[in-house]
Amino acid sequence: MKKIVKNGTIVTAADTFQGEILIEGGKITQVGTNLNAIGAEIIDAKGCLVFPGGIDPHTHLDMPFGGTVTKDDFETGTVAAAFGGTTTIIDFCLTNKGEPLKNAIQTWHEKSRDKAVIDYGFHLMISEINQDVLNELPQVIAEEGITSFKVFMAYKHVFQADDETLFRTLVTAKDLGALVMVHAENGDVIDYLTKKALAEGNTAPIYHALTRPAELEGEATGRAARFAGLAGSQLYVVHVSCAEAVKQIAEARSKGFDVWGETCPQYLVLDQSYLEKPNFEGAKYVWSPPLREKWNQDVLWNALKSGQLQTLGSDQCSFDFNGQKDLGRDDFTKIPNGGPIIEDRLSILFSEGVKKGRISLNQFVDLTSTRAAKLFGLFPKKGTIAVGTDADLVIFDPNVERVLSAETHHMAVDYNAFEGLKVTGEPVSVLVRGEYVVRDKQFVGKPGSGQYLKRAKYSRNTQISQNETLSI
Ligand code: URP
Ligand code: ZN
Ligand code: ZN
Repeated sequence: MKKIVKNGTIVTAADTFQGEILIEGGKITQVGTNLNAIGAEIIDAKGCLVFPGGIDPHTHLDMPFGGTVTKDDFETGTVAAAFGGTTTIIDFCLTNKGEPLKNAIQTWHEKSRDKAVIDYGFHLMISEINQDVLNELPQVIAEEGITSFKVFMAYKHVFQADDETLFRTLVTAKDLGALVMVHAENGDVIDYLTKKALAEGNTAPIYHALTRPAELEGEATGRAARFAGLAGSQLYVVHVSCAEAVKQIAEARSKGFDVWGETCPQYLVLDQSYLEKPNFEGAKYVWSPPLREKWNQDVLWNALKSGQLQTLGSDQCSFDFNGQKDLGRDDFTKIPNGGPIIEDRLSILFSEGVKKGRISLNQFVDLTSTRAAKLFGLFPKKGTIAVGTDADLVIFDPNVERVLSAETHHMAVDYNAFEGLKVTGEPVSVLVRGEYVVRDKQFVGKPGSGQYLKRAKYSRNTQISQNETLSI
């Protein structure tokens, strides 16, 4: 059915204007004023902002990790994402050494196919580079449209790859046109520090942070960035948490290296002291990299404002407090790492960022949607509001005040990491390819309606548009 969005303020990464949007066949067919179409349903966005649907480039749904499986799957996770204004996610497909990549991708298709209520793509984890992997990667790109590879520099004996694997992945990605993503922490030194802490009887959640110091994130970020420069390849550093890592990314970019950085709401709002909460509550705040000392938050906000960090991912990786996080009650290394964020990503950035004057409205759109679309081969189909793009839209009330809480969220977990945080702003209605998924704050979507996205190759040129210049 045709729809016209009227009376709202349209916001893209470049512009803010009063306008109307005509939607036909799931696409935006006109942007203008006084639009008419016979039989069109009118969506009244009076008093609201109209954003391109959020793109979350970093989720872990239905993922085995830390001796358990993330609580949110592709159904609950994407429903929660939609309530929060996210209309596309890119999830991490885990691979197993020695197994064909296509098996892992098949597993992720099975997890998502009949469940997702918004559109989705996959990044592919690279744990080894050998002839079989090299033979398969061109097919992964051509047939699956998976154009981003993830290498873990941490989680020794679990996901961690060595430097040779990272470097060869960068070289391969350069040839194939893929973007390499890294979890940048020095896993070897962390392994030593965690064993030492446990041997000294230090088992509480705070030791998770104390054994993963910021220096080790900075070191790994700098190492990966240097490798990217040496390989002439492209690198995206996920979940940047601290000043040391920002400094390395900024330095690499100033040298002209094609290096990008993502941070997440938890690092902007929460800090290391949360891990000291009594009654083991600190386990709720165990992420890797860990929450940092509070002063890092200003550095991260400044990096978002100045463009040294370019995206906001959620790193959604949710575990119940009861029955999952408490696997580590006697040993912090057994606390599953990660938290529930997928739903609150836009609201937190809008409230803490735009409303508090830290970033502009257009930067908000770029950080939550447009830049991810450009980096991960989805632009301009996704990530903006223009004729010809998918009608993925968020009708957002910028003035409503509310409190984030597990009692009202839609994620499947038994706690909210931002419990009690007052935010201003909330999505009212959310459309994916012109169809409501959330209408007047009610879920009206259908599991399985989300489409798998084959993504285009990484292009450095796409990163530069008329009204922006990069320091690279
Ligand atoms: O603690 C985290 N970040 N859990 C998710 C897995 C990862 O490292 O991204
Ligand atoms: Zn990670
Ligand atoms: Zn992650």
